[in-house]
Amino acid sequence: MKKVSVGIIGLGWPGQMHAQALRALGQANLYACADLDDERRAAVEKEYAPKKCYSDYHELLQDRHVDAVIICLPNFLHFPATLAAIEAGKHVLCEKPPTLNAAEMKVLREEATKRNLVYCFSRQFRFSPAMRAAKKAIDEGRLGKIYHAQATFIRSRGIPSWGGGWFTEKKRSGGGALIDIGIHALDAVWFLIGTPRPVSVSARVFQNFPQYAGPGIFDVEDAAYAFIRFENDAVVQLETCWAGNLTDDVPPRRYFGQELVNSVIYGTKGSIRLNPLTLFEDRQGEIAKVPLDATQDEPSGFELQMRNFLRAINGQAEPVNNADQAVALMEMIDAIYASSQLGREVPIA
Ligand SMILES: NC(=O)c1ccc[n+]([C@@H]2O[C@H](COP(=O)([O-])OP(=O)(O)OC[C@H]3O[C@@H](n4cnc5c(N)ncnc54)[C@H](O)[C@@H]3O)[C@@H](O)[C@H]2O)c1
Repeated sequence: MKKVSVGIIGLGWPGQMHAQALRALGQANLYACADLDDERRAAVEKEYAPKKCYSDYHELLQDRHVDAVIICLPNFLHFPATLAAIEAGKHVLCEKPPTLNAAEMKVLREEATKRNLVYCFSRQFRFSPAMRAAKKAIDEGRLGKIYHAQATFIRSRGIPSWGGGWFTEKKRSGGGALIDIGIHALDAVWFLIGTPRPVSVSARVFQNFPQYAGPGIFDVEDAAYAFIRFENDAVVQLETCWAGNLTDDVPPRRYFGQELVNSVIYGTKGSIRLNPLTLFEDRQGEIAKVPLDATQDEPSGFELQMRNFLRAINGQAEPVNNADQAVALMEMIDAIYASSQLGREVPIA
């Protein structure tokens, strides 16, 4: 496999996780990085010694030694940075959300396809041990026909206030809890049920807890609830919240107060719960609890995701988190906001 020369743009936590993944895999080299923040750039320079460190990401994109970029910028820069990267002939792995809306993502899909470049959006949880074990069981048909899935990502006191306040400003984030953490929960169940085409959404988003936001603009939702119908007749229920008054059975985490994160998939022969990973199988009327083996000692989700991206660049694999799925994911997000605003179910064309 050809060693791909990679640039990372945006050096916060996800940027550093991708750098770690690159180093652990050893199949590509971190050639360049870019960030406006001197301290973050210096930290990555010290730890990973890339050949080039830029503050202006446009300069990195003009560097002919860079084959591929990983974009970990604030949400509103995903579209312009990905487009500029594609126009400069680079393959792209971009952090979630892929863009601020589906219209932007459709442009990126078209531009990447036209140039025969690999586009992936980052969703490392698709590659976690529990997700891979659950997906395997589902693909083996152990659930029968899937008709319903529950997607949950709720924090008790987790309104993000770092990053200069961009997370809570609609213009720069595209939305609040839904586009920040709800997207993880939604994508997890959608991926497990085989990414069927969404056809309609009924949803309501709320802003209930401005007192827990940091200083600065707070014009996004802190909670979102949605009911999504799919072409194959399955339905998904999503609940997500940055600041819910959670009950005491939900354990506290190191950050963000208490946290309730789960995916449950229901089928005619059984169901699967991701956390803790368990299969519940119908055995002649009795529901048997079957533990599933999730191998922990494999590379991390970030590494497996990176491996897929690099293999796709070398023509050895199809991208798992591909541009078609990024468009559909953003269509669901758009429809959730539209449905809430209109107060009714909205179709997805
Ligand atoms: N996959 C995950 O689990 C995960 C986790 C956290 C964040 N994210 C996503 O990653 C992205 C970044 O999130 P974050 O928490 O690191 O945010 P952040 O604000 O902490 O970091 C963004 C970085 O981008 C830099 N930056 C901003 N504008 C720039 C520009 N014009 N040129 C160069 N650098 C610029 C900033 O200096 C900062 O270091 C977001 O889209 C977020 O949704 C994903």
